[in-house]
Amino acid sequence: MRIAIGADHGGYEYKNQIIEMLKNNGYTVKDFGTDSAESCDYPEFAKRVAAAVASKEFDRGILICGTGIGMSIAANKQKGIRAALCSDLFSAKATREHNDSNILCLGARVIDIGLAIQITEVWLNTPFSNEERHLRRIGMIE
Ligand code: RB5
Repeated sequence: MRIAIGADHGGYEYKNQIIEMLKNNGYTVKDFGTDSAESCDYPEFAKRVAAAVASKEFDRGILICGTGIGMSIAANKQKGIRAALCSDLFSAKATREHNDSNILCLGARVIDIGLAIQITEVWLNTPFSNEERHLRRIGMIE
């Protein structure tokens, strides 16, 4: 699975740790920045990762900022993107099964890194249910 990842300064440290976990687990990862903890603008990185996923160059995306909220708002502006902000394991599983979310957003000031990694693992490992009602609802969004 090819994964595009990005963060602002608020999510920079979490991004590094999540990249390490992904590489250790055999995922192909491309880091779309930011490249330091210096203050920067989250919409820029949301746009890059969302474009990489919308174009199908990457299968999934991960975006991290302080709350995860700005990233999810920005990513969801792009057609074909279903970005889900998750702070718990139930939502991480449900959003894959029900929404076929293709971008995971995380808030580095909201949850600790251990939970962020667990959420990422559950989100990556849960397949879409492919149930008719969920396909219909996703179609209604598009
Ligand atoms: C940056 O201070 C902060 O606004 C950003 O990381 C994010 O939480 C925005 O939604």
